[in-house]
Amino acid sequence: MKVSVIGTGYVGLVAAAAFADHGNDVVCADIDEAKIAGLKDGIIPIYEPGLEPLVKRNVEAGRLHFTTSNADAAKHAEVVFLAVGTPTGGTDGAPKLDYLFQAARDIAPHIDGFTVVVNKSTVPVGTAERVTRIIADLAPDADYTVASNPEFLKEGVAVQDFMHPDRVIVGSDDERARDILQRLYQPFFRTNERLFFMSPRSAELTKYAANAYLAARISFINDVANLCDAVGADVEEVRRGMGSDARIGNKFLYPGVGYGGSCFPKDTRALIRTAREHGMSMSIVASADRINEAQKLVLVRKVRNHFGGDIAGKTIAVWGLAFKPNTDDIREAPALSIVRSLASDGAKLRLTDPEAGPNFMNALGDSVENFGIEFCKDPYDAAKGADALVLTTEWRQFRSPDFGRLGEIMAGKALFDGRNQWSREHLEGLGFSYSGIGR
Ligand SMILES: NC(=O)c1ccc[n+]([C@@H]2O[C@H](COP(=O)([O-])OP(=O)(O)OC[C@H]3O[C@@H](n4cnc5c(N)ncnc54)[C@H](O)[C@@H]3O)[C@@H](O)[C@H]2O)c1
Repeated sequence: MKVSVIGTGYVGLVAAAAFADHGNDVVCADIDEAKIAGLKDGIIPIYEPGLEPLVKRNVEAGRLHFTTSNADAAKHAEVVFLAVGTPTGGTDGAPKLDYLFQAARDIAPHIDGFTVVVNKSTVPVGTAERVTRIIADLAPDADYTVASNPEFLKEGVAVQDFMHPDRVIVGSDDERARDILQRLYQPFFRTNERLFFMSPRSAELTKYAANAYLAARISFINDVANLCDAVGADVEEVRRGMGSDARIGNKFLYPGVGYGGSCFPKDTRALIRTAREHGMSMSIVASADRINEAQKLVLVRKVRNHFGGDIAGKTIAVWGLAFKPNTDDIREAPALSIVRSLASDGAKLRLTDPEAGPNFMNALGDSVENFGIEFCKDPYDAAKGADALVLTTEWRQFRSPDFGRLGEIMAGKALFDGRNQWSREHLEGLGFSYSGIGR
């Protein structure tokens, strides 16, 4: 099948390479010229396990092509996926749809033969209808339909998720579109049980409802963790006790420094905003969002308390900057709030992360110089001379470090475990002071 994907980000590039891997002829377009030039030279612009070989082998096989021309992408395909960013636009939580609408305007005059335009980006209810109108205004004779096919992949395991999806949601009332998308997705699973057809509006809402539910679970367990701190219980024990109930389950029930990333924060806010437009409050989701903002600073408060309220001049190592392991994505990463807060209290910061360092230091901008924040490639370098060490992302390589070595190179022996990865008993036995979340 001839497929185009507009937007070469975490979703678009993975989707394009995965479709190509199933034998489709795929064009992937982006307005970012440097990104496309790099991809043509074999440079993958993001860190995503398994993506590089997937892109490489499909480029070599002649099934995956890159272009900066959305027009060419539109001419090429019978299915055009719009997978551009939809970041939070303003203060009211509404996502910015400018990139999506621009992509729709770019392709409209070049639609050639019956084409399914697919909103893959996460977009509010009613967006498929808005894209339909944009195309109709510019190309009244075009033969097309707009479907909604929200993406559920997780960064860090995006290739695996896309290749073996839990489910594929297709929102379309058009039989031809349903048939084309069914044929396109068929090779991704043996049976059709995991392919759900529904209306575009239901599909759009399904994505937000799923993310909001997962975000609410995280905020729920973080709230329980903070109560554990207050009453002297251990949230790890409580979590295991709760999660073993089959109705509850263990997934997404891990306390920590809050959720981040390009999806949960923006999607919860967008859902709250949609509800507000309809005179509703979605108060569980609003609470999840509020709890999450506060949660990002729980660890900072623990660090401050440890040093009697004053951390000015203290050297603090921060392990983990990405919003979660196995990605270089730092959008809304809790580490951003933590680092900014510690720095503004006068702490000297030594940061490390296996992949997200450059993105993170860019995002900090001027504060890097203003506050003298240093990035270290090696985690032990970051810990050298530190009065305290804060773990913010549970990368595998941080789970079982050489604590003996840490004890020797750190100036103080205070560990703040924002992901409950380490054992208090073990560390206290080695002479460290240990602080986790809700333990
Ligand atoms: N990242 C995730 O884990 C994830 C998961 C599920 C859904 N989503 C959703 O998928 C969408 C894309 O997310 P992402 O993380 O891949 O975004 P991204 O920011 O990584 O990539 C978006 C790309 O779109 C390009 N772009 C913007 N306007 C364009 C235009 N007019 N024409 C061509 N290219 C254009 C940008 O240059 C960029 O490369 C968002 O709506 C997001 O909410 C993301």
